[in-house]
Amino acid sequence: MCEPRYFEVRYAINPWMNTGVPVDLDLARDQWRTLVQVYRDHGHAVETVAPVEGLPDMVFSANAALVVDGRVFGSSFHATERRPESAAYETWFKEAGYDVHPAESVCEGEGDLIPAGRFVLAGTGFRTRRDAHREVQEFFGRPVISLDLVDPRFYHLDTALFFLGNETGEGNVAYYPAAFSPGSREVLQRLYPRAVIATEEDALSFGLNSVSDGRHVFVAPQAHDLIDKLTQRGYIAVPVDLSEFRKSGGGIKCCTLEIRS
Ligand code: ARG
Repeated sequence: MCEPRYFEVRYAINPWMNTGVPVDLDLARDQWRTLVQVYRDHGHAVETVAPVEGLPDMVFSANAALVVDGRVFGSSFHATERRPESAAYETWFKEAGYDVHPAESVCEGEGDLIPAGRFVLAGTGFRTRRDAHREVQEFFGRPVISLDLVDPRFYHLDTALFFLGNETGEGNVAYYPAAFSPGSREVLQRLYPRAVIATEEDALSFGLNSVSDGRHVFVAPQAHDLIDKLTQRGYIAVPVDLSEFRKSGGGIKCCTLEIRS
C-alpha cells in the first residue's frame, strides 16, 4: 500500500475525477490509515511503498502490478501522468527481492486483472488492452478470461467485480452485470452461476472495489444491499470507509496490491 501523502485530483482521467473539487487530505490519510489498521487487525501483513511527490494516484497501488506465485507482472499505464509510477513500484519490488516482468501493452495491474481460482479474469475497454491479456496468460501460464467493460464509470474491472474466494470449485465472484458487454455477462453467468449480483447503487458506492480473504470482505459501508447479500452467504462484511478516494475513482481494492507468494 502507498500512503496518500501527495494525493489530489490534479488531472481527470476517469468520470469520477473533477479537478475543481478539492480533496480533504487529512480525511484521506485518516481513512487510509484505518484501512491499514483493519487489515492488520484481521491478521494481514501490510507493507508500504514510499509515496513520490507529483504522483497523486500512486496511492492506488493495485494498478502497479499483478503478483501471482511470487512472480510480478508490471504495469504500463494508460495515462501519461501515471507512467512514472511504474519505476517507483519497480524499485520497491526489486528491494523486496522480486523481478518485475515489464508489460508491453497498456496494462494496469490488479485494476483490470483479478486472479480467480484457476483463471485470471481480465478487463478491457478503457485501460488494459486485450494484447496485455495475452501477455499475462503467457507469463503466468494461467487461462485468462477477457471481459469487456462498457460503462465509463466502471473503467477498471475492480470497480465492477471482485473475487470472493474458493467456496466452490471455481470460486465465486460479486459483480454488477450492466458494467459488462452482453457476451461478457454471459461468460460470467456460465462461470459463476451462484455469483452475488450487485445493484447499481452498490457499484456506485464502490462496493465492488472490495477485498476478500475468503472469510472477511473489506467493503464500502455505503454498499448496504451488497453487505446484506454477503452476510446471507456467510461472509463477514468489514466496512471501511474510503469515501475521499471516490473523488479520484478509487476505493478499498484500488488502494491494495495483493502479494500472492
Ligand atoms: N485516479 C486513478 C485512475 O484513474 C484511480 C485508479 C483506481 N484504481 C483502481 N484499481 N480501480 O487511474
